[in-house]
Formats: sequence, C-alpha cells, structure tokens
Amino acid sequence: MKYLTKNEKETMALGKKIAATFAGGEVVALHGDLGAGKTTLAKGIAIGLGIKNKITSPTFVLMNIYQTKNKTVTELVHLDCYRINNYHEMEMIGFNEYAQNPKAVTLIEWPEKIAPLLPKIRREIFIRLRSDQQREIEIK
Ligand SMILES: Nc1ncnc2c1ncn2[C@@H]1O[C@H](COP(=O)(O)OP(=O)(O)OP(=O)(O)O)[C@@H](O)[C@H]1O
Ligand SMILES: [Mg+2]
Repeated sequence: MKYLTKNEKETMALGKKIAATFAGGEVVALHGDLGAGKTTLAKGIAIGLGIKNKITSPTFVLMNIYQTKNKTVTELVHLDCYRINNYHEMEMIGFNEYAQNPKAVTLIEWPEKIAPLLPKIRREIFIRLRSDQQREIEIK
C-alpha cells in the first residue's frame, strides 16, 4: 500500500492509523534517507498508541522505550541504528529481548544496519522523498 503525504502533519496522521493496526509483537523496519520522515512517522505511531511523552530521535541514545496507555500494546521501543558500527552493538543493549516482547511494538530506523538481527516476520515501511514536503510512504 502506498500513501502520499504533503507535510509533517499528514505523515503523523498516517502514523496514528498504522498504530491502530498493531496487536503487539510487531517489528517495523522504517526505511528512508536522512530527513525522510522516519522519526516523524514514529511520533504519529506513538500518539496513536496513547503515549503522552515527547518523542525524541534516538539517534544518539540508540534506543528509547515508552510505556503506552494501550492495553494490548504496552510498550513502544524506538531504535535508531544510524550511528552504530556493528549490529552487535544493538544486540548488546538487548535488541532481541525487546523485539521478542509480544506486548511491544519495535520501530527501527536504519534497519539495514542490523540486518542479521531482524526477525523474518516483520513489517517494512519505505519513505521516499518526492519533493520538498511530499513523501511517498509504502507499507509492506
Ligand atoms: N511529508 C512530510 N513527512 C514527514 N516529514 C516531513 C514532510 N515534509 C517535510 N518534512 C520534514 O522532514 C523532516 C523529517 O525529519 P525526521 O527526523 O522525521 O527524518 P528521519 O527520517 O527520522 O531522519 P534521520 O535519518 O536523520 O533520523 C522534518 O524536518 C519534517 O518537518
Ligand atoms: Mg530519525
């Protein structure tokens, strides 16, 4: 399924809709270049899960964990693999344990950096720049 968004707000709104499809246990690979809108989409997903905390980019901390107000999905794990040198770094901070939690949703920016760790069953989202403010968002 492909969607076009015209601005940040629309991408967040799409994130909210995506959040409504989660039942817990999903691992979501968020593909897209620098500034494509991966974190923006993650913010929308977080709002959709009822997270009240401000969502910040995990670029430097690698991983942020939020508790939701949702009964079925109780935790959102947000990872950014951009800065890691080796997938073992994510393994070391507990990627597998978090990703295997059936009540968590795990969102991964720069997933290609931890390809060997990605579960076979996962969702794939591709964000492509169309123009200044336009993004094509493909969900697989
Ligand atoms: N349609 C759109 N959807 C999402 N973001 C948009 C859109 N149009 C413009 N933007 C802008 O693009 C930027 C997206 O930044 P964001 O941090 O979400 O990207 P990212 O993919 O997470 O980048 P990084 O790889 O650096 O983490 C923001 O500044 C946002 O305002
Ligand atoms: Mg980001």
